[in-house]
Amino acid sequence: MTENPEHQASYAPSAEFAAAANAGAELAELAAADRLAFWAEQADRLHWEQRWTDVLDWSGAPVARWFVGGRLNVAYNCVDRHVDDGHGEQVAIHWEGEPGDSRDITYAELRDEVSRAANYLTELGLEAGDRVAIYMPMIPEAIVAILASARLGLTHSVVFAGFSPSALRQRVDDASARLVITTDGQWRRGKAAPLKEAVDEALYANGDVPHSVEHVLVVRRTGIEVPWTDGRDLWWHETVANADPHHEPRAFDAEHPLFILYTSGTTGKPKGILHTSGGYLTQAAYTHHYVFDHKPGQDVYWCTADIGWVTGHSYIVYGPLANRATQVVYEGTPNFPDEHRHWQIVEKYGVSIYYTAPTLIRTFMKWGRQIPDAHDLSSLRVLGSVGEPINPEAWRWYRTVIGSGKTPIVDTWWQTETGAIMISPLPGVTAAKPGAAQTPLPGVSAQVVDEEGNPVVLGETEANGYLVLDQPWPSMLRGVWGDDERFRETYWARYADRGWYFAGDGARLDPDGDLWVLGRVDDVMNVSGHRISTAEVESALVGHSGVAEAAVVGATDETTGQGIVAFVILTATTENTGDALVNELKAEVSREISPIARPREIHVVPELPKTRSGKIMRRLLRDVAEGRELGDTSTLVDPSVFEQIRADKA
Ligand code: PRX
Repeated sequence: MTENPEHQASYAPSAEFAAAANAGAELAELAAADRLAFWAEQADRLHWEQRWTDVLDWSGAPVARWFVGGRLNVAYNCVDRHVDDGHGEQVAIHWEGEPGDSRDITYAELRDEVSRAANYLTELGLEAGDRVAIYMPMIPEAIVAILASARLGLTHSVVFAGFSPSALRQRVDDASARLVITTDGQWRRGKAAPLKEAVDEALYANGDVPHSVEHVLVVRRTGIEVPWTDGRDLWWHETVANADPHHEPRAFDAEHPLFILYTSGTTGKPKGILHTSGGYLTQAAYTHHYVFDHKPGQDVYWCTADIGWVTGHSYIVYGPLANRATQVVYEGTPNFPDEHRHWQIVEKYGVSIYYTAPTLIRTFMKWGRQIPDAHDLSSLRVLGSVGEPINPEAWRWYRTVIGSGKTPIVDTWWQTETGAIMISPLPGVTAAKPGAAQTPLPGVSAQVVDEEGNPVVLGETEANGYLVLDQPWPSMLRGVWGDDERFRETYWARYADRGWYFAGDGARLDPDGDLWVLGRVDDVMNVSGHRISTAEVESALVGHSGVAEAAVVGATDETTGQGIVAFVILTATTENTGDALVNELKAEVSREISPIARPREIHVVPELPKTRSGKIMRRLLRDVAEGRELGDTSTLVDPSVFEQIRADKA
């Protein structure tokens, strides 16, 4: 019988899928019976040099210690262990370069490369606890650099290669990185864009203000000319490539800092989210195994994220490699040389698990189903979604067109701060509902509550509330780098009396008790699955000499989830040149932050709506940006300006 996807409220896995699935219904029962024993069992999927004495120490809340006293080497777990177990010849990475070059790297080769890099970083004098910034496109050396850092106990801070020099500098300074690893340039739609040049610009920025960087290690990727500082700058192919491929890994404490990853908060300054080793790897590996139903040696897994985001950390590097995955890593954009690229890659490698973002699914929908239909996608057996709520229409299209109307879809809710997936269907267990993240994973505990912390009541129309995590979890953040106050204030202050983590998301419980994530409730926007704070974009706009004041909101966008809409007041001496000025301001934001933060629209206005206490009324601006009827505009001297912008959109 063929399925009519239009008419189903939920999609149960087939009996065949369920029978072979890694996770059955018993997983949740086990976790419910004894949560900590359950996590201990998950930790046992890793190799520990020394076993822990206690599963969890929550006495220092909100800073948790998981697997207390345990010692392990994260890179050994992701690489060497599989070689020692006789899988050295298994491909770890099918790497696909944007221009069409490709490389297969086995676990044995990966071990040699990581060892070489570890030996060379040691030769440079780096020691456990030092910070390393990694500013690289999606090439194998980026993964090698991450794993070499982990192997040595260096704390890595990966900075998305689309970020500007000033964003890089801010992150390098905040963490006092001793080393930056980068490339000469990166391929973007057939063109080599400089990257090393951006590092130089970052390090020379701020005039004479000294920085912490001693060396810049550069991988040659595109062959373009690069600026060079003798003594400081080093070529990877002249150093790492010649280093000894043998390196003895040393075990570190389970709570040794593994990485810092910066993410946008509600102020202009990004937060360095800190993750540690044992608990993080446990949950990254656990979730990858069960949520994607990954079978080592059989599946070909592909996560389309960039290593610059947490999804790349947990579901390209740590989770899959800890589970001995064979995975595809693709360097480029989905439409180079044309819109067939992803499906050609799926066909070429026989990809069986594909994990991407709703914004890309909606883009594929726009390009039309004739594109995927021209390919044999029958190898696909699990599809995943992450980064923002997926609208039911996109969910159904994903299942019908990409998943031949039969693959389970896992809509995974989590955050940079949670380190790994928290809420998701299990593909062999859950009857999946399009658009719902549904249930906390076994071992994870979440609630939807009101302002006061009372649980919302199932089945009520008002079952909307705030998403909280009411129990600690192994891969939880351990702090905000260098800012303990901000850590406590942002996540733990709202429900301080209960000791709950506030995620910053709104959610709804349906009458079945399934959870629907509604999106951010703070001043954080979600554009194509990227977190951008309104304050960051405002600060970039007022950085332009012509702008006196700026207010930014995220407005619903058909493709990107939210689009950035800015309202600016010009300085008295600035002439409004219309499109020319608007384009200049958009370019300024791209330059200051990244092209991903480029506003969709900028409106020049004579004033901004503010409360009596001077706070910008963003709700009103969102109504304007989305063409809705405007409520109380009494604080405005001239509401007609906003009314006009609104009317143009309605
Ligand atoms: O608002 C939620 C949204 O993305 C935020 C986390 O962003 P970031 O730290 O950049 O991590 C993205 C990748 C994990 C969340 O607070 N979000 C993420 N996944 C989902 C989601 N919203 C709804 N459904 C999801 N599956």
